[in-house]
Amino acid sequence: MRLKIKMMRRPVTKITTNFIEELDEIIETLCPDRVFVLTDNSAKKYCLPVLSTSKWLQNASVITIAQGDEHKNIASAVEIWTFLTKNDATRRSLMINLGGGVISDTGGFVAATFKRGIRYVNLSTTLLGAVDAATGGKTGVNFLGYKNEIGVFSPAEAVLVNTDFFHTLDAENLRSGFAEIVKHALIHSLEEWNGALAFDLDNVDFEKLKEILARSIRIKERIVEQDPKELHLRKALNAGHTVGHAIESWSYGLNRPVLHGYAVVWGLICELYLSFVQTGFPKNELLKFGRWAKEYYGECEIDCKHYDMLYELMRHDKKNEGDCINFTLLKRVGEPVVDRTASKKEIFESFDYLRDGW
Ligand code: GLY
Repeated sequence: MRLKIKMMRRPVTKITTNFIEELDEIIETLCPDRVFVLTDNSAKKYCLPVLSTSKWLQNASVITIAQGDEHKNIASAVEIWTFLTKNDATRRSLMINLGGGVISDTGGFVAATFKRGIRYVNLSTTLLGAVDAATGGKTGVNFLGYKNEIGVFSPAEAVLVNTDFFHTLDAENLRSGFAEIVKHALIHSLEEWNGALAFDLDNVDFEKLKEILARSIRIKERIVEQDPKELHLRKALNAGHTVGHAIESWSYGLNRPVLHGYAVVWGLICELYLSFVQTGFPKNELLKFGRWAKEYYGECEIDCKHYDMLYELMRHDKKNEGDCINFTLLKRVGEPVVDRTASKKEIFESFDYLRDGW
């Protein structure tokens, strides 16, 4: 008997112009026995009705979880696994993750582990999900207060971004997503960086946003293609995230949650300060970024009494090796340096800089 070996297809994130037609085409190619749509309360209200004209989704089972990063946890995963089992999902079934990063991370993780892996498609409804979470196959949930502590690499079969959904986002969620666009620009080139910092976030031009988003997704995809499992190059995408994830977890611990992109911007302030100290990142770019961050994201309310807690959270970051805290720093815009470490003293100085020095 001759077995057909299917070549791995490179998943591509597509900004769709004909959403339902393109979605139906993808599902048709995958030919699933059953389709399950995972969504949250908000996407269910604003985005799910748009899917009602899809011929493949007429009879799909819908699983809804509560909105927000605090629900990206093992309890939600258990809820979804239970639903899949009780509703006869098989290895030929398909999960459609309709929502932002929480939905694609949780849904991707559930799909990757259910019956040792079923296929899934991400339909991004937020800017943050579109520019970052939905692309690149990182899936997972938070655990014991640590971000994305449990998870696997498992790429989606396809990722579709319908930018019409962005009109339902409030200013804070748009800014949260835009932070990842700025991070991609920072590690890519001076031209992208200057373009991103010049974008008017007070009066969003959605056509311009679409263009900048398409370039930003390509920056990420090119990196992921070369290093899907984050052995080296992909670590560049973690710029701002060592401190950023600590700030995010800390804010949840205090019951004053900040959105991911805000934490990343403040994390970048600290990590660009460390880059200035350690790898000669230009001071004018650090100051320029600080002015931009203050204008659109405001100040991070940290105090020296929080430093130890932030440091502890960073010590548990999954990017660390041995006892060292791992950072991606930059020599200049477009030139990231991965696998850097910093002393506790330098890290606390960077917190001082975030608190009052910029
Ligand atoms: N969010 C960074 C990455 O996907 O590698």
